[in-house]
Amino acid sequence: EKGNFDHFMLKEIHEQPQTIRDSLRGRLLAEQGTITLSGLDKIENQLREANRIVIVACGTSWHAGLVGEYLIEELCRLNVEVEYASEYRYRNPIVSPKDVIIAISQSGETADTLVALENAKQQGATIFGIVNVVGSSIARISHAGAYTHAGPEIGVASTKAFTAQLAVLQLIALKLAEIRGTISRELFGVLLSELNEVPDKVQWILDNQVNHIQNIARQYKDARDFLYLGRGYNFPIALEGALKLKEISYIHAEGYPAAEMKHGPIALVDEMLPVVFVATKDAYHEKIVSNIQEIIARKGKVVAVVSEGDDTVTGLAETVMVVPRAHEIVAPLLAVIPLQLLAYYIGVERGLDVDKPRNLAKSVTVE
Ligand code: M6R
Repeated sequence: EKGNFDHFMLKEIHEQPQTIRDSLRGRLLAEQGTITLSGLDKIENQLREANRIVIVACGTSWHAGLVGEYLIEELCRLNVEVEYASEYRYRNPIVSPKDVIIAISQSGETADTLVALENAKQQGATIFGIVNVVGSSIARISHAGAYTHAGPEIGVASTKAFTAQLAVLQLIALKLAEIRGTISRELFGVLLSELNEVPDKVQWILDNQVNHIQNIARQYKDARDFLYLGRGYNFPIALEGALKLKEISYIHAEGYPAAEMKHGPIALVDEMLPVVFVATKDAYHEKIVSNIQEIIARKGKVVAVVSEGDDTVTGLAETVMVVPRAHEIVAPLLAVIPLQLLAYYIGVERGLDVDKPRNLAKSVTVE
């Protein structure tokens, strides 16, 4: 039931402190400084010997996969490829028994993902499932896996399942880095406690930013197009923010790596175009600030997600949405929350059925 919330989507956005905690529970033991993932233990040998990891997914789950790629490559120094299941399924990909395939799916029933996995399994690859629905088809055909424990997601636009996928990917990347000996004890400890703090930080966003984001939604609800830009760990979050807006508000939105802007999309920028930057404090911050300046110079309207206490962007942007400071590796778990809220409130302002957007199904069981 929706309880006090107008829509399931809003309820599910607000559940995230709890659902992220549930994804971490019993797995991340911050005080002991350990991560336990029984699914990973089951395929530890394959992981030790893997040449690469291939992540296969669709839609929002594919965006989580992109974050996973950045995490695993950075922390585990292991080659990762992220594939759209529909493409991977049909293009006769090269699969070897040394490949570990990570499938990401909320429903566990997405047809393209399921068949892509069946094909790879036949060719001897090891399949690891990150799935929300217990006992679903993808969970059943996987050799091992880790459930996301987000609980039933009713809103067609995925929110809490996405952050649960990110939380599990963080655990996997950290555990794998430990197994492969590619992370120092010190960094491991720092990232464990950063991850452990995420649920409280998400709660802070929900407690402090909702009314403000509602106002931003009122201001921009009639825009015809939106651009979403981010770099590094926040690039997939720009893609996810754009997808949420499209699904819920039917406004055309595109996500790009911020630096790709000059290679085409900048031609779209004028005083009518809102550009949402994911500009939290990280290694790319200076570069993203100069991307923001480039947009402003062309009269684009900048809305930015920024870290608490960082004033660099506040003076430049039309408006900012604030998230608590965090290590850049866990930042996507925070940065996506304001973007979910923005999409939700724009959809509501436009009088749309945000829980059941037109033309979409909760699980896509046909190709
Ligand atoms: O159940 P899955 O995670 O496999 O679903 C994949 C996509 O269909 C899904 O993420 C879709 O993009 C959502 N509507 C996103 O909000």
